Parts: sequence; structure tokens; C-alpha cells
Amino acid sequence: MNYNESAETILAVENLSVEYDGKKIIQNINLTEKDVLRPGVIQGQTLAFVGRSGRGKSTFFRSLAGLETPTTGKVLLSDLSKEPENGYPPLKEVEEGDVGFVDQKYTLFRHKTIIQAMEFAMRKVDKTKAEKQKIINTHLRDWGLEQVKHQYPNELSGGQRQRTAILEQVLSSTNYIILDEPFSGLDVGNIQNVINAFKLINETHELNTIIFCTHDIELAVQLADTVYVIGYPTLENGNLEMIGTIVETFDLKERGLAWRDAFTAQHIEVVEEVKKAILNS
Ligand SMILES: Nc1ncnc2c1ncn2[C@@H]1O[C@H](COP(=O)(O)OP(=O)(O)OP(=O)(O)O)[C@@H](O)[C@H]1O
Ligand SMILES: [Mg+2]
Repeated sequence: MNYNESAETILAVENLSVEYDGKKIIQNINLTEKDVLRPGVIQGQTLAFVGRSGRGKSTFFRSLAGLETPTTGKVLLSDLSKEPENGYPPLKEVEEGDVGFVDQKYTLFRHKTIIQAMEFAMRKVDKTKAEKQKIINTHLRDWGLEQVKHQYPNELSGGQRQRTAILEQVLSSTNYIILDEPFSGLDVGNIQNVINAFKLINETHELNTIIFCTHDIELAVQLADTVYVIGYPTLENGNLEMIGTIVETFDLKERGLAWRDAFTAQHIEVVEEVKKAILNS
């Protein structure tokens, strides 16, 4: 295997549960992600979450982004504002604003045009105004948004809003980006834009971590290093307990299937396994 996992945790979820009005939606969610090291390349992390509708993916993502107060447990991630210890930043409990978040509804600033939203997204990026303009214009062209760059969100199509929301996070250069169904409803060209953006983010910084969910299982297996299935676990009596949790984890790195350009017969086998896990939960 041409990779190592460092001993350093970059994301940890401990015993997380969330309730709405006393009703448990997700519970007992635990996971630990470590920095993946590959000789000679910068390698960020990509995590995919899949599962049937209503199992709690969006609820979990809002907790990961610090937008939801968990009933129990916590989410820890690298605190990049602190000096590294042994080469790695210390962990902190997530707060709103620590991670880039693209919600399932692609919420945008109502009073900013696309170009204003992009400039705002890059406000903390350490580059000159001219450099930022150049980057923004290149991306707007590549993502098919140049013609509409002076329009407001209510003047955009659904796909244009979605691309704008994703691009905002891509340009803001936060190390953690969480995307709730970034691929739904995009045309093939735009899907490729988002895939390319994922690749670029991954190659830019060792600690960059992309977390996304999708109903496209092929895409999840193609893009992620680890695929987590969120579903209802099976009780001893054989019935499903109707509270979402991680029911299965597929580690594509261990299987030698991560970071491959080709989608092979082995990937297709994993897709089938993942689909089975989803259907059983
Ligand atoms: N604010 C809320 N108040 C009460 N119940 C909620 C709230 N948000 C979500 N739920 C409930 O929590 C459950 C999980 O919803 P969630 O949106 O997390 O599912 P999901 O896995 O993202 O589904 P989908 O694949 O359809 O997007 C659903 O039963 C939903 O009705
Ligand atoms: Mg959802």
C-alpha cells in the first residue's frame, strides 16, 4: 500500500447524538480520521456519507459544521489558528464558522451578486486584490457563471445557485469543507467541475478535508477514501431501530482503491456492497 496514516487525528466524532423535540434522530456516531500520508504527494482527505433519505445525513452534517448543538457527544477538528505541536495543530471542539458548509438548499447571500459573494468568500485569503480577481474570473468562466456574475441569487437557476454555493467554499480556502449533496441535479459538465474542484482542494494542503454526502453511490466510491453508510441499525430481534447511525464503513485506502483515476471492476463490487448496506439499513 502506498500510503500511511499519521498518528495525528484531524477529525474525531465522539458518541454524537441529536434530538429534535425529544425525538432522537441520530445517535452513537463515532469516527476518527487521521491525516493520510502518501510519499511525494500532498494528500488531503475525502469522506463520503451515503444512506437512505431521512436517516440523518443532513442532521449529522449540521452538527459537524457546528450549526447544531448535539444532545450528547462532540465533534473535534484541527485548530489551524494554533501553533502546531509535533507538526500538527491541536484539536478543538467545532464551532460555527470553523468549516466551510454548503447546505442542501444552497443558501446564498440575498443581497450579494455572484461576483460580490466570491469577493466576500476570499476576504481572508492572503492574496492581492488583482490576484483574487484573476482567480475568481477563471473559476467563474470554468464553472459557466461568467454571464450571470452580476446577478443576485433570486435571478439564478437552481444549478447556478448550487455552483455558486460550492464555489464560495472552494475559494474561501477553509481546510474543512462539508457539502450536503453537492452533485444532485447538476449536468455532466458541472459534475466534472465539482470533481475537479475536489481534486484541487485535496492536492493543495495535507490537512484539507472534504466531507460530502450523495445518493450517487458510484460517485461516492469513485471520489472518497472512506465511505460511511448512515442508516438504521438492526436490533437483536431483527427489526430496524429507527435512529440513524454509522452502520458500515468502507475503507477504499485499505482496499487499494483510493486515488485511482480509473473506475475498475473492484470499484463496482464495492458499489454493490455499499448499496446492499444502504438497503439493509
Ligand atoms: N429541524 C428539524 N426538526 C424536526 N425534525 C427534523 C428537523 N430536521 C430534520 N428532521 C427529521 O430528522 C430526520 C433526518 O433528516 P435529515 O434531513 O437529516 O435526513 P437526510 O438523511 O439528510 O435525508 P435526505 O437524504 O432526504 O436529505 C427526518 O425524519 C426529518 O424529518
Ligand atoms: Mg439531507
